[in-house]
Amino acid sequence: MLDYSKYYSNLAKRIKASEIREILAILKTKRDVISFAGGIPDPTLFPKQELVEIARDVIEQYGDDALQYSETKGVREVREAVCKFMYAKKGFKCDLEDVIITTGSQSALDIIARTLLDPGDVVITENPSYLAAIGAFKNAGGRLIGVDIDDFGMKTHVLEEILRSMSEVERSKVKFIYTIPVAQNPAGVSLSSERKKHLLEIASKYDLLILEDDPYSYIVFEEGVDKTPLKALDREGRVIYISTISKILAPGLRIGWIISLNDLTRKIELVKQYVDLHSPTFTQYITAEAIKRGVIDKVISRAIPLYKAKRDLMLKAMKEHFPEYTWYSKPVGGLFIFAYVYKEGFDAGKLLPLAIEKYKVAYVPGGSFHVDGRGANSMRINFSYSTYEQIIEGIKRLATLIKEN
Ligand SMILES: Cc1ncc(COP(=O)(O)O)c(C=O)c1O
Repeated sequence: MLDYSKYYSNLAKRIKASEIREILAILKTKRDVISFAGGIPDPTLFPKQELVEIARDVIEQYGDDALQYSETKGVREVREAVCKFMYAKKGFKCDLEDVIITTGSQSALDIIARTLLDPGDVVITENPSYLAAIGAFKNAGGRLIGVDIDDFGMKTHVLEEILRSMSEVERSKVKFIYTIPVAQNPAGVSLSSERKKHLLEIASKYDLLILEDDPYSYIVFEEGVDKTPLKALDREGRVIYISTISKILAPGLRIGWIISLNDLTRKIELVKQYVDLHSPTFTQYITAEAIKRGVIDKVISRAIPLYKAKRDLMLKAMKEHFPEYTWYSKPVGGLFIFAYVYKEGFDAGKLLPLAIEKYKVAYVPGGSFHVDGRGANSMRINFSYSTYEQIIEGIKRLATLIKEN
């Protein structure tokens, strides 16, 4: 057998297989385990019949184009549909030329990281934040600095203090602030209106870009949550906005988008060209049709009450069964609850194999959502995928695990 390791790039050498991923991968074979691990939508929301019709129509009507190579930044009609969708849902206008259709928003994160980061550059994120964004920034050589969150999102006064106390040299390495302002992953909290304003002021004062990741603002359960994107408030062109159909249509279609500005869009587009030429033309067309025919609106209107009911049930079960030395977020939307266990020595990562084998319940340990090695005592718990019965039973099992360990 060849030893392939000498061929690996520094990046490949640096990337370590996540033990947790491997543990969670075996879940597929364990039907008796209740999994709160994935970040996945409830498949009963997939509009299968409508998608059958759309897929057929797309091939019949646009087949020559829809099955062909297409422009790197995305099919014009699709970018048009996305712009209209953004205006209807988010209230900001975008220029067609500033939209890039991506292969899910994960690839948007990767391409933007490649466009903006050199090894040693700094990205500031919420702490905890979305683990695969953290991974994309690290792959590009980024160093991460975390800012704690509370029920109102990133503590912007802490962010300001971090930037203020940096040396000039260190500060010059900070390229952008990454934020999921609405119904954040993993905690489900949202940035308050005051903090949004403050964040934009800070970006302006320290001359930084903001990368706004917005997969969840379509699925907010509470009145009074400010869903205005930072992009709509941005007067200086500092916000790069990304979103996706993954949680409001189907993640398997792999369609997301970037809305940027001017030269920066051109540069991101160039970088994308050498990553994947373009995102799948066929699913781009399907997405545009799903927007135009109101299919996405329908999914959203079914997702909100369904996920709200699941969140409510999970929070109720947690209130009933979790011991008093736990704290958990009260998500205003999205798919997750984030929990901390304040008991000496509790390590959610180390306990995961036991959780699966003995207690028959799975979650994602919270350590990997933190950028500073904290969070061993935390876990992300998904409420969108499981049935009501599984939510009640799974939370009981999780509570027993916490109490017994
Ligand atoms: C905050 C955030 N950003 C990006 C993604 C990636 O989504 P996708 O690549 O499916 O669009 C996710 C998926 O869970 C997410 O939670």
